[in-house]
Amino acid sequence: MQKLIEQTALALARSKSNVVLSGAGMSAESGIPTFRGNKGLWKEFNAQELATPQALRKNFSLVWQWYNERKKQIAEKSPNAGHLALSRLQEIIPLAIITQNIDNLHSRAGSSNVLEIHGNIFKARCMACGHVMDFSQTDNSTFLCPACTRGKLRPHVVLFGERLDERQLQKTFALLQSAQVFLVIGTSSMVYPAASFAEIAAEAGALIVEINPQPTAQADIVLRGKSGEILPQILQSLQDFKSLKN
Ligand code: OAD
Repeated sequence: MQKLIEQTALALARSKSNVVLSGAGMSAESGIPTFRGNKGLWKEFNAQELATPQALRKNFSLVWQWYNERKKQIAEKSPNAGHLALSRLQEIIPLAIITQNIDNLHSRAGSSNVLEIHGNIFKARCMACGHVMDFSQTDNSTFLCPACTRGKLRPHVVLFGERLDERQLQKTFALLQSAQVFLVIGTSSMVYPAASFAEIAAEAGALIVEINPQPTAQADIVLRGKSGEILPQILQSLQDFKSLKN
């Protein structure tokens, strides 16, 4: 494992464009449940009833209730050692983060250059004019948009069956094309389009590194373990490598 970590650190240090794709496993060590697997959220809750445009139309307040509950739980959690290591890595190497997570933990860890392709649970969006705003309240679901004063606000998260934001996708595809190292962290790679990103980056020439305790996608370097343990080791190795060079 140490050899693979050093190999990854060296590749990151040499690359001009490093890109991370993170999924729910990235936040597992913060105590936020993942979606799939034995204790996954979609084992306990019905996605069709809670996270689809149909659910939003049929049962607006239930959808809000579900996201409000999750928002409360997430607000109590903190970034873990993996989030913090990525944020420190950004001080040393060029690194962009594409995340499927809506928990805001990359930003709370101090990371910049984060594309939240599935939205952000601490934001709301107007269903009439599309205005997006910070929205931390968890007590009500009947707010009207302050920008247009007529539209209802919905959680600013992507629901099953919805398209991702076009501008975010364009930025994402530009990153996939430019990436020299592409780190796939804590995702089961089952939800599209994110599930295709590693392959697109690989076709464009990136070295693919996967960090996950379970086997998922194909990668050039597979670091089998928890991101909160492996990322700090990569950071350490990169720092050692940089200090040797100076
Ligand atoms: P999943 O729950 O499908 O997968 C989580 C992955 O994290 C699994 O492959 C685990 O093996 C891995 N994992 C668990 N603990 C880990 C740890 N400590 N370190 C690293 N990896 C770990 O979550 P996603 O792939 O993120 O979409 O799911 C993708 C999308 O499906 C989500 O964004 C959400 C969901 O429905 C929407 O809500 C639109």
